[in-house]
Amino acid sequence: MLKKILLAIPAAMFAVSVQAAEPSDSPYEVLTELLSKNKDDLYLNQSQQNLMIMPDDPALFTAEEGEALFKEKRGPKNVSLEGCDFGKGPGVLKGAYVEMPRYFADTDKVMTFESRLVHCMVTLQGFDKKDKQVKKRHGSGSDMMKLTTYIAMQSNGMPWNSRLDHPKEKALRDAGEVMFYRRSGPMDFNCATCHGQEGKRIRASVLPYINNPAEWTKAVSWPATRVGQNNVRSTFHRVRGCLYQMRYPNLKQGSETATALISFWTDAARGQPAILPDTKR
Ligand code: HEC
Repeated sequence: MLKKILLAIPAAMFAVSVQAAEPSDSPYEVLTELLSKNKDDLYLNQSQQNLMIMPDDPALFTAEEGEALFKEKRGPKNVSLEGCDFGKGPGVLKGAYVEMPRYFADTDKVMTFESRLVHCMVTLQGFDKKDKQVKKRHGSGSDMMKLTTYIAMQSNGMPWNSRLDHPKEKALRDAGEVMFYRRSGPMDFNCATCHGQEGKRIRASVLPYINNPAEWTKAVSWPATRVGQNNVRSTFHRVRGCLYQMRYPNLKQGSETATALISFWTDAARGQPAILPDTKR
């Protein structure tokens, strides 16, 4: 996988084509194509440095480690994750990540990708939620981030397409929209305070605007290497970070609140190509 990407780099650097992303395109190609269509966008074009790093994104190595973990027989039940159903059937990874959150009949719940991965590690492999393989959620060294990066990458270049067929899927997406715009907390912030206007900045950083899908696809393209933190970070880590900036109480992973916010923000990027993995500030 990595070899294929590295071989593709020289071609990517000289590519001028503006065709729709093929599944074989690298995240760098998906992003450069998005940039070529949005040349004047301040948020998208703010970091030439990140773009330069992208072909050698450390997240690609994280994904490689994730692939090995995915296929390895692990846990008390000694089985691999190849039997895990991420919504498109057991073991089907291609396109699964961009269709989440989605409703799962076996749990009667709308689940984010992270919740589903935990579910499979617990039910399929027999891990306890307290085992470090499941409990450690953050950092490139964690099993969770390795697996997440590998699985997410199988949706690189595909359009965000979270499911909105089941009534529970719609309800959570709508709840997420309410939360996005509801001002509360000690600072009386809502998400739109910082993401409700195009070109808004905090110091030098241009923030993404929720109603600009081309910006928003980059905003929600996690996992991503956060260059400043030298680690691959997840969707949940990002939401939690923004809630922390708002001085809200800590968000609980797997809670309906987390699922609702992630459902709404994925819907806001609908149809736009996912950059997986991405690099960020
Ligand atoms: C106080 C301002 C502020 C509020 C309020 C805020 N954010 Fe953010 N948000 C930021 C900053 C700053 C970044 C990081 C931008 C950077 O690193 O360049 C960010 C990043 C993001 C990103 C990823 C985009 C990127 O470039 O890294 C998403 C998605 C996001 N926020 C969603 C939300 C959601 C959902 C809420 C409400 C729960 C929210 N934000 C509330 C300031 C805010």
